[in-house]
Amino acid sequence: MMAGSEKATSSGLATSTERTRVVILGAGPAGLLLSHLLHRAGVESVVVEARDREYVQARVRAGVVEHGTADILREAGVGDRLDREGLPHGGIELRFDGEGHRIPMSDLTGRHITVYGQQKVVHDLTEQRLADGGDVRFACGPARIHDVDTAEPSVTYTLDGEEHRVVADFVVGCDGAHGSGRTAMGPAMSALEKEYPFAWLGILAHASPRVDELVYASHERGFALYSMRSTEMTRLYLQVPSSDRLEDWPDDRIWEELSVRFSLGGEPWSPTRGEIFERSLAPLHSFVAEPMQRGRLFLAGDAAHIVPPTGAKGMNLAIRDVALLAPAMAKQLTDGDESDLRTYSERALQDVWRAEYFSWWMTTMLHRFEGTAFDRRVQTAQLRSVVSSRAHSTALAEAYVG
Ligand code: FAD
Ligand code: DHB
Repeated sequence: MMAGSEKATSSGLATSTERTRVVILGAGPAGLLLSHLLHRAGVESVVVEARDREYVQARVRAGVVEHGTADILREAGVGDRLDREGLPHGGIELRFDGEGHRIPMSDLTGRHITVYGQQKVVHDLTEQRLADGGDVRFACGPARIHDVDTAEPSVTYTLDGEEHRVVADFVVGCDGAHGSGRTAMGPAMSALEKEYPFAWLGILAHASPRVDELVYASHERGFALYSMRSTEMTRLYLQVPSSDRLEDWPDDRIWEELSVRFSLGGEPWSPTRGEIFERSLAPLHSFVAEPMQRGRLFLAGDAAHIVPPTGAKGMNLAIRDVALLAPAMAKQLTDGDESDLRTYSERALQDVWRAEYFSWWMTTMLHRFEGTAFDRRVQTAQLRSVVSSRAHSTALAEAYVG
């Protein structure tokens, strides 16, 4: 961080102004990995995070790390714990009409996924950044972005009655779907979106998973997903109407609904029960910002795109974005060569749209919609084709393992 200066503003707040090369909003997977990759390329950055560290690290979200994502984390020197504690999975089960069908992803693609909580990814990256002397500022409240069409873009935040301004060569919005990055794109951005009329109720329970691999179940009462975090911790999801609230779902109702939706051979099939210690509701929608750049502002991760969680792509895409952005930005800042940075948005959007397509496909194939009997038959025909055609299974497996 270069030397700063202090003065008072017309609002009466004392201000401090500092300078860095890249200022990053958000200490989620995208922001932290970007800062780490820039550091490895010799470029300094400041990460400004609205919430405190405990909150960020306690937030329960994704669980599936794609093959290619694990490679990126390993190559960046932050894959040791993932290799030690992650659960490698070579297949998933699709369950419908009371029958389970395994998609042998490793046999079909030679690749596998790793079940490893996003919380752990965030924890590993935070530890590494701090061990390397990285500048990660937690609990700053929502930061604001300024002057992205000039050579001196900046970010401001207010902390303990003082306004802080960080001026940089570039600002990167890694601040998720509700951050300032998206807003600062203004009319430069087109929003392409799709809403789904349901949400996922997700729970974490102290229970040994009854299965070794993930189960995606499509039942006439709705979708259910069996996942896990460890040999003692189960993660489960239920499709519920968007209007439902957590109070509508007491523990017994959750377990009963799960055992119906996971039915096998006409009989209810119950996950191992245990204490539910975390629960959340997440609406499903798709969103893409085009382009992912305005002047000296770049977007990465959920700030730029949202996928419905059915394809397990969100965190993986966030990591892929910054693996493209970091070397392009470092090349511009160290050699003055901006060729890769100029094509960042275009290259990132190709992967984004592939993931949007896959997530939409998985969502529409597996969830219960207010459709006609015709729609339902087509859905079943599609599932039958996926599990009986090697070509169709391979297409799913390739997209899933990444
Ligand atoms: P985030 O993790 O959202 O981080 C953004 C950060 O910015 C936050 O820490 C926030 O506090 C901060 N912030 C916001 N506004 C500001 C501001 N103005 N100033 C400063 N900081 C700000 N993805 C997968 O790949 N696999 C899965 O299996 C999967 N399952 C999921 C299941 C559920 C139920 C949900 C909800 C999501 C799932 N996802 C999954 C998606 C995944 O969690 C997200 O895509 C991922 O968190 C995106 O990372 P990010 O760094 O872009 O954003
Ligand atoms: C998990 C989440 C997903 O969205 C998914 O498709 C698979 C697993 C999970 O949280 O474990």
